[in-house]
Amino acid sequence: MNILAVESSCDETAVAIVQDGRKVLTDCIASQVDLHRIYGGVVPEIASRKHIEAIYGLADEALKNADLTRRDIDAVAVTYAPGLIGAVLVGVNFAKAAALAMNKPLVPVHHIRGHIAANYLAYPELKPPFLCLVVSGGHTMLVDVKDYTSVEILGGTLDDAAGESFDKVARVLGMPYPGGAALDKAATLGDERKYDLPRAKAGQNPYDMSFSGLKTAALNLIHHAEQIGEELDVNSLCAAFSAAVSDTLVPRTMAALQQTGYKKLAVAGGVAANSRIRADITRAAEKLGAEVYMPPLSLCGDNAAMIGAQGYYEYLAGNLADMSLNAYATKSILGESI
Ligand code: KG4
Ligand code: ZN
Repeated sequence: MNILAVESSCDETAVAIVQDGRKVLTDCIASQVDLHRIYGGVVPEIASRKHIEAIYGLADEALKNADLTRRDIDAVAVTYAPGLIGAVLVGVNFAKAAALAMNKPLVPVHHIRGHIAANYLAYPELKPPFLCLVVSGGHTMLVDVKDYTSVEILGGTLDDAAGESFDKVARVLGMPYPGGAALDKAATLGDERKYDLPRAKAGQNPYDMSFSGLKTAALNLIHHAEQIGEELDVNSLCAAFSAAVSDTLVPRTMAALQQTGYKKLAVAGGVAANSRIRADITRAAEKLGAEVYMPPLSLCGDNAAMIGAQGYYEYLAGNLADMSLNAYATKSILGESI
């Protein structure tokens, strides 16, 4: 089954064709990052306009790359939530028009479920149930993936997402948007012991976390150094920050792994590209005898292939939409009716 998949929730316009949820026939992405970099972050209105400009051409390119015609497409999957509302709407409207024109089913996909499904593309043998640490720009949570379309949230951030805090600290350090990857690179050159940053406890739920105190502590440290004219060791601060984020994520993930009894741990989302987190997760999971699944860097960030992967399983579960499908800025991953 060939699914034409569409993703436009933030600043990447993406169209992919995925076969049977596991095989990427083509994965086309038009990134707007360079454009938004001028403003230090995503400008929603510009993102929507650029999605409209790119999406039709990308869909043609996807068919051409895969050497397919419209007749070879069996369904259209699209990110319908969460994201920048104007941006998500572009993808949803395009997908509705495509599904209507081709007379094929329309499959709505939750963006975070898509991130988790990136692992199905990287690991054809991976099947639920498993635990997934979701770490993206806007979300940080521990998800019990009971089945392809049945998930439970065990805990998550009570304030900032991990990616958001990486980006904020990187921005104040003068790194270009989105700063997570640049901060990660700088961290590999630093000494994490040089700066002391907090590891916050959050609430009663052992799987909940908080990043806002850590972010504020790092920003205060940077501003204080500026005020007293002290030269900051940027690489070491990045190392200390990455270590603190990882120390917040990894023990909770391991505790959840033990509680669920799962021997399979997946990581998903843009921050899953972080080298420190990848290394710490791998080491800690090994101690518990658990298998670790992490998408290659190309599938960690936003892409449409992951939407095609999850779209396949949503289709099999009968989770289809009609032409009344709407886009949502926020929506729970739990999958209440659309
Ligand atoms: O999942 P994603 O592409 O978009 C959302 O759905 O939010 O995640 C983007 C986030 C950004 O905050 C970006 O800075 C972060 O992922 N990111 C990283 C790294 N690569 C991307 N954060 C830390 N280390 C990285 N290597
Ligand atoms: Zn994303």
